Amino acid sequence: MLEVANVGVRFGGLVAVDDFSMTVEQGMIHALIGPNGAGKTTLFNSITRLGPKTTGRVYFKGEDITRLPDHRMIHKGIARTFQNLQLFGKMTVYENLYAGYAFHFGRSLPSIFAGSHKSFEEDVRARISDVAARTGIRSVLMNVPRNLSYGMQKRVEIARAIISEPEMLLLDEPAAGLTYQETEKLDRVVYDLSRNKGITILLVEHDMNIVMKISDRISVMNFGKKIAEGSPQEIANDPEVIRVYLGGEESA
Ligand SMILES: Nc1ncnc2c1ncn2[C@@H]1O[C@H](COP(=O)(O)OP(=O)(O)OP(=O)(O)O)[C@@H](O)[C@H]1O
Ligand SMILES: [Mg+2]
Repeated sequence: MLEVANVGVRFGGLVAVDDFSMTVEQGMIHALIGPNGAGKTTLFNSITRLGPKTTGRVYFKGEDITRLPDHRMIHKGIARTFQNLQLFGKMTVYENLYAGYAFHFGRSLPSIFAGSHKSFEEDVRARISDVAARTGIRSVLMNVPRNLSYGMQKRVEIARAIISEPEMLLLDEPAAGLTYQETEKLDRVVYDLSRNKGITILLVEHDMNIVMKISDRISVMNFGKKIAEGSPQEIANDPEVIRVYLGGEESA
């Protein structure tokens, strides 16, 4: 479904992503893991847009999307969340979802909030209700995100990302900063989106529990390069992975 081919990203003299290739199969939860600074976020950002100083190509369903602007991605069926939350802090959760939906249809916010489109209104209400139930945020729809727990905000961000019914969802460290209970809730949400909504997922994540529990396939990155790829079982037993990733964490 998604093919990353020989992607390279440099920051001055630093090679953050080094000739990296990876294929994410349809319907999979594919995790991308690696130590801090491995280049995961840089690669992740390259998927939604390769900058002028990067090399390589990215294909989605066979189509070259290498230099497609960010805002065009959603129309192709690719949605993403960010390592740092990017919600509209002063809008309610409901409005955040509404905005995500409206954006998908390319409407300007003022024209939508003017509220002359009745069927659109009904459609969006139904959609928000479904997505909110799926992500467990129903009870907070009228709150503003900044008053919510971090775990709740993360789920709001995911809800906003899937409101446009993407075929593929890219998640950058959704579990970072969450408590154990919040992480459990989050991995159930991600698992449900994969199995029951059929959304293909690329998951960048540090939390090995969630990665091992829900991933179908794992790619491991270190210093910009892919050092291993396989099933959770294979990765857990890979000597190179244990050495650079798990071993590195233990000694840190
Ligand atoms: N805008 C930038 N300018 C210069 N160097 C950068 C920039 N962004 C990232 N880097 C460097 O590129 C390398 C890869 O960083 P990246 O953020 O992709 O790693 P990561 O695997 O996502 O790490 P983490 O697990 O901490 O999120 C690091 O050495 C980082 O310092
Ligand atoms: Mg990162």
